[in-house]
Amino acid sequence: MAKLLRMTLHEFQEDIRQGIPSTLPTRKEYEQQINHAPKRKEILSREEKKLALRNALRYFPVSFHAELAPEFLEELETYGRIYMYRFRPDYKMYARPIEEYPGNCLQAKAIMLMIQNNLDYAVAQHPHELITYGGNGAVFQNWIQYRLTMQYLSEMTDEQTLAMYSGHPMGLFPSHKDAPRVVVTNGMMIPNYSQPDDWEKFNALGVTQYGQMTAGSYMYIGPQGIVHGTTITVLNAGRKISRNGEGLEGKIFLTAGLGGMSGAQPKAASIAGCISITAEVNAKAVQTRHSQGWVDEVISDLDELCTRVREAKMKQEVVSIAFLGNVVEVWEKFDREDIYVDLGSDQTSLHNPWAGGYYPVDISLEASNRMMAEDPELFRKKIRETLVRHANAVNAHTAKGTYFFDYGNAFLLEASRAGADVMAENGIDFKYPSYVQDIMGPMCFDYGFGPFRWVCASGKPEDLAKTDTIAREVLEKMIVNSPAEICQQMEDNIRWIKGAQENKLVVGSQARILYADAEGRMRIAVAFNQAIAAGEIGPVVLGRDHHDVSGTDSPYRETSNIYDGSRFTADMAIQNVIGDGFRGATWISIHNGGGVGWGEVINGGFGMLLDGSAEADGRLKMMLHWDVNNGISRRSWARNEGAVFAIKRAMEKEPLLKVTLPELVNDTVMQDLFGED
Ligand SMILES: NC(=O)c1ccc[n+]([C@@H]2O[C@H](COP(=O)([O-])OP(=O)(O)OC[C@H]3O[C@@H](n4cnc5c(N)ncnc54)[C@H](O)[C@@H]3O)[C@@H](O)[C@H]2O)c1
Repeated sequence: MAKLLRMTLHEFQEDIRQGIPSTLPTRKEYEQQINHAPKRKEILSREEKKLALRNALRYFPVSFHAELAPEFLEELETYGRIYMYRFRPDYKMYARPIEEYPGNCLQAKAIMLMIQNNLDYAVAQHPHELITYGGNGAVFQNWIQYRLTMQYLSEMTDEQTLAMYSGHPMGLFPSHKDAPRVVVTNGMMIPNYSQPDDWEKFNALGVTQYGQMTAGSYMYIGPQGIVHGTTITVLNAGRKISRNGEGLEGKIFLTAGLGGMSGAQPKAASIAGCISITAEVNAKAVQTRHSQGWVDEVISDLDELCTRVREAKMKQEVVSIAFLGNVVEVWEKFDREDIYVDLGSDQTSLHNPWAGGYYPVDISLEASNRMMAEDPELFRKKIRETLVRHANAVNAHTAKGTYFFDYGNAFLLEASRAGADVMAENGIDFKYPSYVQDIMGPMCFDYGFGPFRWVCASGKPEDLAKTDTIAREVLEKMIVNSPAEICQQMEDNIRWIKGAQENKLVVGSQARILYADAEGRMRIAVAFNQAIAAGEIGPVVLGRDHHDVSGTDSPYRETSNIYDGSRFTADMAIQNVIGDGFRGATWISIHNGGGVGWGEVINGGFGMLLDGSAEADGRLKMMLHWDVNNGISRRSWARNEGAVFAIKRAMEKEPLLKVTLPELVNDTVMQDLFGED
């Protein structure tokens, strides 16, 4: 790997301040050892390629154009995008302690820290293509956008707001101290232009990007973020199949994907106490997770896998096994060998089926990648055939009793589009639930529990340990008076935070995730702000995954347990981000396309810097209250029982909150009109 230049702090700061270099840096070699994004589909016509080049060159003085134009064309033709590799900085990319960032405003420095964390080689999936996770979750479209954004952040004051258009920094605009410092929009399209190929085309033109959820919003904290949610999901799935209150000991969980988020599955399964088998076609991804200790063993032979799984079951071991190969082979083999799978799911990137998110069976990874670029039609055909085989094999297992759930990766959606047998008898619903319908929605989101997170901006592990203790103490106080409806959640979360240090979850910034409800989030944040004021810890950045109570409208995932017809609307996510914006968020973001695919979801989030001030205390209370209760009120209006309970409780606690409640229609009224069904 090419050596990173050793830079002093001063040189690093100067590099940030200069933005676009005044002289052209030398070209960079393409480093083979790095996990690169696959070549994107050839989609632009000759005229559109010219437009893409003009778009790219408009960042630079005219004197650079003759040299850069052929280089950018080569990138476009070789990789399907113009990443401007030459401008990748030479310094090491990681979340530095906040005081090391140049600038005039602490909030902007916090955002720089979060951006660099999303691009850290230890964190990002394809760091040179500025992709954090999910195969296409971009922080920026190219390195010049990164450089310009960092420059703007280093210049801005508390009286300005930076407008980010899908990775492009439009500029600094006058605002005020309590306004967000940055407003991010990613992939916002005119609705009729939101088909997957629209992303390919407009992204190749350089005018939009796929921000996923926490990639384009600078809030990714490595796989830890997802370990907690996955642990909760596997634990509760285990509770669903438990016949006599027994746990997951000796039970088998079969799934796929060891990538950005999916890589959390084996770790979460081990925390939940079962035997997990996670298939993964990409040897690099297997190696990464194995070397990080996130998966215990690697097996690439199916017979060996069966022997090992039988042994683990007999001994009731808690063990996580990576199978290097296609998941379809495992489902089929276990069926033939009659290995009973207790829990099954899938976390391949089916939100992105045609561009490397899901690989066809019986074809090598390299051949698949070639086919994807050279013969996309054939590739699509192979994917559809694989999906049908995949679903058939899953069906064979569920007929024997396996509990299978869709993991929000659009598996059922794409399988149904491929013509696989996954529809319920009514022809409208899928035969299997999504994990949100059965687990996260009714058990967590409806009560306001979601993936609250924080980052210690000092970069000190001691600060993180202190915040863990503070958060645990807050939850332990709260559980004493918690109603029965939420005690299980509170217990799970206390258990998680107690084990957090021991589970060594930090990759990248000193970050922690902790599911909490509105009251929990506010009380923990207040306690952090007090500890900062007392000088016990440095500043803290609060945030959350977009995969939460209120931030995301996604009919097959976050809002799949909304049954009043409104799950195909996106008012909640838009309301949320606007509401967070004027209630004190440090930055806000709204995206098209995270998780389940372009055009399939609108999701938003926030970041908030706590600096120990009285202003921060006021902002956090006002914003976090809205950020959770907005979604609970919508879920309550959709007649979700848990949410009705939670919003009534919130109204008792906050006299200024007054929410419209639904009246339930008696069935006899419908029967009188429509007769018995
Ligand atoms: N973890 C969660 O809580 C969660 C929640 C919601 C949705 N998701 C969804 O899970 C999906 C995965 O996310 P990610 O960040 O890990 O993506 P990713 O692209 O980093 O990882 C997916 C992995 O699946 C592998 N893969 C693809 N096809 C395969 C096949 N047929 N057999 C075996 N392996 C195969 C790929 O090589 C890749 O490493 C996304 O669609 C995401 O939206 C995850």
